[in-house]
Amino acid sequence: MNDAAPNAAPQTFYLKDYKPFGYEVESVKLTFQLSPNATKVHSAIRFTPKADAEDNRFFLHGEQLSLISAKIDGTPVTARLVDGGLECDVPRTSFLWEAEVEIDPAANTALEGLYMSNGMYCTQCEAEGFRKITYYPDRPDVMSTFTVRIEGDEPVMLSNGNPTGAGEGWAEWHDPWPKPAYLFALVAGDLVNHPGSFTTKSGKEVELNIWVRPGDEGKCAFGMEALKKSMKWDEDVYGLEYDLDLFNIVAVDDFNMGAMENKGLNIFNSSCVLASPETSTDANFERIEAIIAHEYFHNWTGNRITCRDWFQLCLKEGLTVFRDAQFTADMRSEPVKRIEDVIALRARQFPEDGGPLAHPPRPEEFQEINNFYTATVYEKGAEVIGMLKRLVGDDNYYKALNLYFERHDGQACTIEDWLKVFEDATGRDLSQFKLWYSQAGTPRVKVSEEYADGTYTLTFEQSTPPPPGQPEKAPRVIPIAVGLLSPNGDEVRATEVLELTEAKQSFTFDGLASKPVPSILREFSAPVILERETTNSERAFLLAHDTDPFNRWEAGNALAKEVRVAMVLDGAAPDAAYLDALEKLVRDDEQDPAFRALVLSPPSQSDIAQTLHERGHTPDPQKIYDAAETFTQTLAQQLETSLPRLYAATTVEGPYVPDADGAGKRALNSRILSLLTRLDGGEQAARQYASADNMTQQYAALAALMKAEKGEAQSKAFFEQWQDDRLVMDKWFALQIACAAPETTAATAKELTQHPLFSMKNPNRFRAVMGALAGNHAGFHHASGAGYQLLAENLIALDSVNPQTTARMCAAFQTWKRYDSKRQAQIQTELERILATSDLSRDTHEMVSRMLS
Ligand code: PHE
Ligand code: ZN
Repeated sequence: MNDAAPNAAPQTFYLKDYKPFGYEVESVKLTFQLSPNATKVHSAIRFTPKADAEDNRFFLHGEQLSLISAKIDGTPVTARLVDGGLECDVPRTSFLWEAEVEIDPAANTALEGLYMSNGMYCTQCEAEGFRKITYYPDRPDVMSTFTVRIEGDEPVMLSNGNPTGAGEGWAEWHDPWPKPAYLFALVAGDLVNHPGSFTTKSGKEVELNIWVRPGDEGKCAFGMEALKKSMKWDEDVYGLEYDLDLFNIVAVDDFNMGAMENKGLNIFNSSCVLASPETSTDANFERIEAIIAHEYFHNWTGNRITCRDWFQLCLKEGLTVFRDAQFTADMRSEPVKRIEDVIALRARQFPEDGGPLAHPPRPEEFQEINNFYTATVYEKGAEVIGMLKRLVGDDNYYKALNLYFERHDGQACTIEDWLKVFEDATGRDLSQFKLWYSQAGTPRVKVSEEYADGTYTLTFEQSTPPPPGQPEKAPRVIPIAVGLLSPNGDEVRATEVLELTEAKQSFTFDGLASKPVPSILREFSAPVILERETTNSERAFLLAHDTDPFNRWEAGNALAKEVRVAMVLDGAAPDAAYLDALEKLVRDDEQDPAFRALVLSPPSQSDIAQTLHERGHTPDPQKIYDAAETFTQTLAQQLETSLPRLYAATTVEGPYVPDADGAGKRALNSRILSLLTRLDGGEQAARQYASADNMTQQYAALAALMKAEKGEAQSKAFFEQWQDDRLVMDKWFALQIACAAPETTAATAKELTQHPLFSMKNPNRFRAVMGALAGNHAGFHHASGAGYQLLAENLIALDSVNPQTTARMCAAFQTWKRYDSKRQAQIQTELERILATSDLSRDTHEMVSRMLS
């Protein structure tokens, strides 16, 4: 009812148009009478006109609400229903607004606002979902305390803050901390809790609960430990303490995102909190620990200090991702975490930044804010903070953060506020640094070197290819961490951070006995693409000798890419020197197993496509696939005699513990198993599958077998064993598509959409199938176009059910201009078909239009 005419260009919102709301909201009281198809919501909100308001229009957002009645100070009033909400004539002094609305949670498949998941009521309000619950100034700069009464016969009824009373058929909650509406939450249903407790540094006892559906109680212990570790870490590292008597986490099966930081009542996609050794892999455990930390850390960076408007989203998300990465580095392995993050950044953010969906970490316009929960806002937003920390130094970083919490507690802030605390704490001018927030695109940094008479000079040149709508690119501040090695492998200059501020700039190092080998961009000190002419033997030297673990991995990764690129372009055989280097590394038991596993993991095929594209070639997905297969097969053969020994030596015995150490060993063991399976007909993998007592080993065996087309029996057995576990079933769906050969990928995915357990209504299941299709590079981009077609058909079908998930998954097409004209034409046809769908959501409309523009 509030949507624009079908497919008309929707309204665009601009950062420059920001205006504060003309009223203070003093308090909010909500009463819910729960009923699946007809929930009544009564609101009583005290508004006070602001004396200095530029604009005193009284407009409340509201969507998909049936207004039953409205009153001001107890007297019925007539509100005017307008596009996206209502308007009303109101007094010029403080007044009480009351409204009663009816909503239909059972019909809400968009999973935004109040909806039902497996018979349980739950809410999702970020970014603009609260307006589907009641009429309200639904914007993050309007903050208020909330009192909530829930009436219904659900055994458990939760909201934000502390419980203030409960009886037969009702429960009341009060949240003393003023908050924007996007942090509101309500959960009601048949839930059981896994309890815990935490004593804060000032001695306050906090009750902790993880609430789950009966049957899932056994999967909460790990999440509870992760929560306690997060609470302790935030006290130790940032001095931040929890501020309520109670902290609740709820697991829901149907959720668009990973999790949500609602004040005192975090709501999680069950895939991001439920864990057990039998059902979760090492990667799942690591991710769950990180997401629990992320949502908990939002209590300060997001909730106590929130965003003025949604353009500032990276203020809370970039910072909170940065904080959760610090946490994971502290809990596990710092270099491994950094390498994983850079792999993810290159896989998700670089393509975004280099394609039609490019936007700065702080965008300046949007049609649908849900489309801006992106890798750029989150991951690049975190990288920008990492650069800032590197530039000002650790002590100054924490000094600035302390000032941020002291100065802005209880406020809704901007990137300007954030940078100002750094300027005030350090005296540094950050105006040039601020370009990172306003410019899109990944800078290229070209490096050249010179050596004469003991002096070594590095010259850097930066440039950024212009992304959509941003023609001019001023030079940015780029921190480049550099160390120098002597030709015998000793470090002759420890890491130093060079500050590149000009378009072209040189740095010299004196007093060197011989020409050094440079190690540039250590720890990946800036999110840029480094371009440097170098040789494979120098890369091999760094892989063997660099003292910076990130750059050691990076050298191996660059080598792997060069070898693949040569195979694809010239039909070359896999480089023998590289194979030897890999062999040496795998067999070197002195080396960290996690590191060896990472070096043994090939660059993704999509990454090779991107590299070819950057170098001016049109990637052929089938050739990239063939090169990957040939390479892996050759590596397996080269290692043939040592594989059984290596497999045995890296097998982790004893009870499964999901720690970093065990995970690293298992990751290496799984890589070796997949190589071994190419040679032994699947014997070892079948044995491992049969004896595995944890999902990591069971899944690794199944994946190795399926990849070798030897896993039919095990796949059937896996289904039989796990068909009642939704999260494990997601793995089963995804793995079949991930392992399919290019010519059968689309058909495999299509068949799975006919499976009785496939559902459009569960985002995890939809993503398991369609995400795996888009993630199988050669299969998705198969010349037949069947992959494109299948994805488009399913996105069209999903759009009317769940626009948010549809729009996000459209991004699978964002790299389309990399490919040849035939593929481009096929994709364009599909994008146009999506765009022509009648009643297309605003979300999907925006994404597809941007990709076509
Ligand atoms: N704010 C959530 C997070 O980053 C993500 C989210 C956004 C969840 C929108 C739901 C909807 O932790
Ligand atoms: Zn977040």
